[in-house]
Amino acid sequence: MCGIVGYVGSRRVVPVLLEGLKRLEYRGYDSAGLVYLGKNGLVKHRAQGKLLNLEAKLDQVRQTPSHIGLGHTRWATHGSPSELNAHPHSDCHGELVVVHNGIIENFRTLREELQAEGHVFRSETDTEVLAHLIESFLCGSRCDLVGAVRRALKKVKGSYAIGVLWTGEPDKLVAVRSQSPLVLGVQENDERGCLLASDIPALLPYTNRVVYLEDQDLAVIRADGFEVRKLSNGRKVKRPIHTIDWNPAMAEKSGYTHFMLKEIFEQPQAILNTFRSRIDPEHGQLCLPELGLSDRDIKGIGRIVLLACGSSWHAALVAKYWLEQWVGIPVEVDIASEFRYRRLLLDKNVLVIPITQSGETADTLAGTRLALKSGAKVVAICNVLGSTITREVHGTLYTHAGPEIGVASTKAFTCQLVALFLLTLYLAQVRGTMASRERLTMIESLVELPVVLERELPGWQEEMERLAEEFVKSRDFLFLARGENFPIALEGALKLKEISYIHAEGYAAGEMKHGPIALIDRDMPVLALVPQNGVYDKVVANVEEVKARHGRLILLGSRGDANIGRIADHVVYLPVILPDLNPILYTVPLQLLAYQVARLRGCDVDQPRNLAKSVTVE
Ligand code: F6R
Repeated sequence: MCGIVGYVGSRRVVPVLLEGLKRLEYRGYDSAGLVYLGKNGLVKHRAQGKLLNLEAKLDQVRQTPSHIGLGHTRWATHGSPSELNAHPHSDCHGELVVVHNGIIENFRTLREELQAEGHVFRSETDTEVLAHLIESFLCGSRCDLVGAVRRALKKVKGSYAIGVLWTGEPDKLVAVRSQSPLVLGVQENDERGCLLASDIPALLPYTNRVVYLEDQDLAVIRADGFEVRKLSNGRKVKRPIHTIDWNPAMAEKSGYTHFMLKEIFEQPQAILNTFRSRIDPEHGQLCLPELGLSDRDIKGIGRIVLLACGSSWHAALVAKYWLEQWVGIPVEVDIASEFRYRRLLLDKNVLVIPITQSGETADTLAGTRLALKSGAKVVAICNVLGSTITREVHGTLYTHAGPEIGVASTKAFTCQLVALFLLTLYLAQVRGTMASRERLTMIESLVELPVVLERELPGWQEEMERLAEEFVKSRDFLFLARGENFPIALEGALKLKEISYIHAEGYAAGEMKHGPIALIDRDMPVLALVPQNGVYDKVVANVEEVKARHGRLILLGSRGDANIGRIADHVVYLPVILPDLNPILYTVPLQLLAYQVARLRGCDVDQPRNLAKSVTVE
């Protein structure tokens, strides 16, 4: 939540900051601001609402010959979304500015202390104390900027990634990372320049050479390079430069109307990227050294605990079915915000698997740290290279979905499912719980999946557009399924509610008669997943109950199944594939349905209200 960006180099700074902010807007979009160093000091521009509002104010200054500055896009935590509360925040004299992502927990005490010393505050934010606090150390002693930042942060409790610019040392930006993400970008060859940002997409138009700061790192960046020190003792430390293979186009819409639509259509490639280097389809073998688990470790696992939030939690719920079925190990699935506040019965024989697209979700991180402390083995499933979680766990199984910009997760979710499917097959291989013929069939079906998706996507898009036209005015929606597809009913409901604001609930089909059936009438759309699998008859019986109460039935089922055509108002036929992989297949039309409904309702698909992509606060 909140995105920060900074630049110092040979380019004009305003366009660089704006470009960076555009690519970070998914992190928060209730206000935005930037600051640059002009001829007569710092120049600050801020606006409430989307980045467009800020851009509108910048027409006259885009080409201003300044080469150093900071930008921010906000997701409000302290203080309402307003221009006054938008970052950057300044000290009393307007000579020092700070942008911040995170929460300063003791800001009230600090604010009162600073006010008693004569500091005048202009906003309601927690961030503003940082500017005044750093100022107090610059004025009161002979500190340089690095010294003042270090002394100030010794008094601060909370999580933060900050960028600081001071007119007294006009050639540098100081950045600090403490529990909130921050990366540096280092230009090379004929371009002199360094960047800082909350996330990699902001760097991509300028460089693919990145430095992952570690927790409690302080970085000084100048046009000709950077240095990193430990915040605690000021000692210099080495941080390597990594060259990443993401390119700028990956963080652009490439002709699609929305990032979400582009990311839905990228799924065949993203899925292929996630499994391709990890399987040997000829021999039906998997190889996952990145787990950091020896065969002995794997044979010793007595229990698996999956930990996640939101869509990632839905992926975990699907994996429970797979792991218990094929590996025969008991699996618990926990919502990370619940996991962290109860008694955890973990030990070294428990494998804990946090699942997170961003690798920065506060609750998932906190749960992971508890698991690490308890002595359990911890392997993350994550999409963002070098993110916080990946640096703390014993191993990481990366999804290779590429950058996901749309706030509602699509390709990252299906790639999490692919990673969990690979993990299931690998654990079954090592523990000998699945016949090799069966494993070979599963791998062959997985290899076929991107081809199937590529072929079906255009047709689904049209079908879902037609369905969306019919249901665009609905007030509620019920999603039903059973077995490994039940979590996909939850995911379908979450997608619809978060981007179209239609109230939607997902239910295990067998649970409907225990309450939700009371909601069913002629106006209630009920969407059920009825692929031909082991629980097909059960789900059909449940949807008959809906039909008997005149609910409006939409069924997604197996191509060639005439029976469901007889029951439903609308049928969407999907190809018949290995039943285990249906959760991935059936997710995609549900994403498209949510997308089309939201689009027809005129909703902001990529940036739904009140949400942020990366939830770095509790
Ligand atoms: C929903 C969605 C969220 C995230 C959740 C966890 O579409 O995207 O529910 O899944 O905030 O985020 P990560 O996976 O980054 O931990």
